[in-house]
Amino acid sequence: MSKNNVQIFDTTLRDGEQVPGCKLNTDQKVRIAQRLDGLGVDVIEAGFPVSSPGDFQSVVEISKMVQNATVCGLTRAVENDIKVAADALKHAVKPRIHTGIGTSDSHIKHKFKASREQIIERAFKAVSYAKSFVEDVEFYAEDAGRTDNDYLARVCEAAIKAGATVLNIPDTTGYCLPSEYGAKIKYLKENVKGIDKAILSVHCHNDLGLATANSIEGVINGARQIECTINGIGERAGNTALEEVVMVLKQHPYLDLDTNIDTRQLFGISQLVSDSMGIYTQPNKAIVGANAFAHSSGIHQDGVIKNRATYEIIDPKDVGVTESAIVLTARSGRAALAYRAKIVGYELTKLQLDVVYSKFLEFADRKKEIKDDDIHQIIEKSHLYREIISA
Ligand code: KIV
Ligand code: ZN
Repeated sequence: MSKNNVQIFDTTLRDGEQVPGCKLNTDQKVRIAQRLDGLGVDVIEAGFPVSSPGDFQSVVEISKMVQNATVCGLTRAVENDIKVAADALKHAVKPRIHTGIGTSDSHIKHKFKASREQIIERAFKAVSYAKSFVEDVEFYAEDAGRTDNDYLARVCEAAIKAGATVLNIPDTTGYCLPSEYGAKIKYLKENVKGIDKAILSVHCHNDLGLATANSIEGVINGARQIECTINGIGERAGNTALEEVVMVLKQHPYLDLDTNIDTRQLFGISQLVSDSMGIYTQPNKAIVGANAFAHSSGIHQDGVIKNRATYEIIDPKDVGVTESAIVLTARSGRAALAYRAKIVGYELTKLQLDVVYSKFLEFADRKKEIKDDDIHQIIEKSHLYREIISA
């Protein structure tokens, strides 16, 4: 892995699947894992094996099938969880156990009723135990976003001492500001003894809509793994969206950070996940929403028809969308109408366009969107129809 390569850790099948009512069966999970492997993700978090027999079986089947990516199973810092995860992962070419514990004062006091020292001890023991099964062990400090940096550094040191290869710093509640989260990663990079033995990983939730910004700040400040889900799905407001962080890094080459993702597969896999889970993707969703490359106002359409780059920073083909869409509405201008009319077979002169455009506006005021069929109707109803088709 080059110094500037950012590993993509996909958790669609674990954290993503925690969306209420969106449980996937093993076949659906295997199909998604196969596509994630083809997409080029570095790690697939396949499930939480101890949580249910179904999840255990999914991790087993995914471990058997995946050829390129590391396959990871989540555990709590509990011996039985770790043992069960190791068992579920035994067929994986590259297995990883992801274990950890809450480190914020709120988790220590309310969830564990323990002391800070006891949490460090449990973290050390969990990583050591996981290491007795697999070489690759990732440690998560749950609620790291609200854990004070000094204490967090001590927890990370213990995990490294026990053999952790990756340190996950989750903003579990989506609380941090990008500047705070970036500073946290920088602090750990500069203050944790032995940090060169492990990769820092960012895992951000979207409660304040900041998951993508926080993840990017994290990698700018030294993290080299991003944990994310397709379409940003996940419990509450979801996780960092894989397609967003990957495209941010691709569209900003001066950051000198890249991923192994084949971005042309992003739209297809987004649709697969949305169909399998029965979760509709909002039309204005960045990168993969139905309107991400659709232009409907006259000024924008005129610009895009002259040169796509006037209003688009991404070539839609780069993310697997065939082309930009010029959507005809009452806000559209003559340029857009002429452009779409030409696509459906009518080359209009300037005078003809004036006549057809006024009919188009009457139609568009009644309908939300003018489709190709409507263009045929508008032209057929115009007194210039014969002239237009015989040209
Ligand atoms: O958000 C979180 O803290 C998590 C951990 C269990 C990794 O998902
Ligand atoms: Zn999470």
